[in-house]
Amino acid sequence: MDGKVKQQKNLTGTLVFAVFTAVLASFQFGYGIGVINAPQTIIEAHYGRVLLENSENKTDENAISSSVTMYWSLSVSVFSLGGMVSSFFVGWIADKLGRIKAMMAVNTLAVIGALLMGFAPLGQSHALVIAGRLITGLYCGLASGLVPMYVGEISPTALRGALGTLHQLAIVIGILVSQVVGLEFILGSKELWPVLLGLSGVPAVIQTILLFFCPESPRYLLIKHGKLEAAKRNLIRLRGDYDPSKDIEEMKKEKEEAESEKKVSIIQLFRSANYRQPLIVSLVLHISQQFSGINGIFYYSTSIFAKAEISQPVYATIGVGVVNTIFTILSVFVVEKAGRRSLYLVGLGGMCICAIIMTIALTLLNQHAWMSYLSMVAIFLFVAFFEIGPGPIPWFIVAELFSQGPRPAAMAVSGCCNWTCNFIIGMCFQYIAEACGPYVYIIFAVLLLIFFLFTYFKVPETKGKSFDEISAEFRKKKLSTHKGLKTTEMEYLGTSTDA
Ligand code: GLC
Repeated sequence: MDGKVKQQKNLTGTLVFAVFTAVLASFQFGYGIGVINAPQTIIEAHYGRVLLENSENKTDENAISSSVTMYWSLSVSVFSLGGMVSSFFVGWIADKLGRIKAMMAVNTLAVIGALLMGFAPLGQSHALVIAGRLITGLYCGLASGLVPMYVGEISPTALRGALGTLHQLAIVIGILVSQVVGLEFILGSKELWPVLLGLSGVPAVIQTILLFFCPESPRYLLIKHGKLEAAKRNLIRLRGDYDPSKDIEEMKKEKEEAESEKKVSIIQLFRSANYRQPLIVSLVLHISQQFSGINGIFYYSTSIFAKAEISQPVYATIGVGVVNTIFTILSVFVVEKAGRRSLYLVGLGGMCICAIIMTIALTLLNQHAWMSYLSMVAIFLFVAFFEIGPGPIPWFIVAELFSQGPRPAAMAVSGCCNWTCNFIIGMCFQYIAEACGPYVYIIFAVLLLIFFLFTYFKVPETKGKSFDEISAEFRKKKLSTHKGLKTTEMEYLGTSTDA
């Protein structure tokens, strides 16, 4: 038994290389989220100059300023709109081309997007930036599904959570790097902002080259194409010198199941009672990740800190990026020990308490100056709790909750749900914050409490279980519900400790 666990945990050079290569795309995703924050005023000023040059009525400053605001909002939000649309096609492209070729193909979008933004000053800069952000968003929507799918499929069971969390770690490093290089004295200046935006294509070029040396997912090869020998070869490349027969057996079983129920389309995913439970869990986890309010912080942190009367809001924003990264690293190390479910509960619970503290601190800001520090600490902790669980877990747990047949469709639907909620928060946060003042965080506190209760009652532990064991657990749950038996929570979640 010990030997088996040791072997399963074998972190080979090929596995590390393949995961590193894959998460370069996640880095780019994070860079895309964060890059637009710091250089806002400088790019807006540039838009203003271009619009003024092109306008017939050069004296109508009001009209120009409102056009600048509109073009800026679009530059920010088309990114998530792109992600919303493209994430829906993740399953299709992943199955059509395979995981490796799909990642290579979507990199074209990243490069086109980066070129459009990098050369924006040569044309109608606002139009080129918006087009570039849209195409980058299309790229990120696909990448945010392909990376966790590939990583989940090539990882040994005992390391699936830790390696899955690296997707989120690369996202947060991308956010942090973009915040730092976006400082005015680095690349966020009047002359260099196109370089800042255009740089986002570089990881895509590097990744495309490295992908040539990465093994295709053995699960894809065997379950989708029946290529037994190729699957075995890749498993040995990924795991080192070991006997792949147990993994091959498990995949064969999945293949039989997948064949007995034909290809699972998105419509079938919604119709089939077999998938209802895992689908609801996946969707709610993604909704809770976004409606926790995290991107209210990431998109608008500088202005939130300014409102809280923090003297150097830009540096406080970078502080958020640092805390974000540190706690994601922590999560990589604890997720296989503590398990997904408990980390998710701790994360949501902690965020809920922080949201309440933020409300109190901002409400009392006028009475006590030190409340601004309390609100800053609460924001830092809010982000820290997010990265303990709600940040990384939804991205990789969907790949765990579904077997090979329905996995691509499930990842497409969940990804699309995540991006849609992200878009809603990006569009509405500022308006709600203006309407509610400090009480905006109470809304998130209530939502967080609801998600906490849902997780407590409905989310199973997946740590240390094979894909087959996880779907068997859902089947067991469905069966006992059908028979009218009362399945206690412990029975449903019980095996969590036996891994
Ligand atoms: C997650 C979310 C993303 C958010 C990021 C912050 O990856 O999906 O929307 O911006 O975490 O770290």
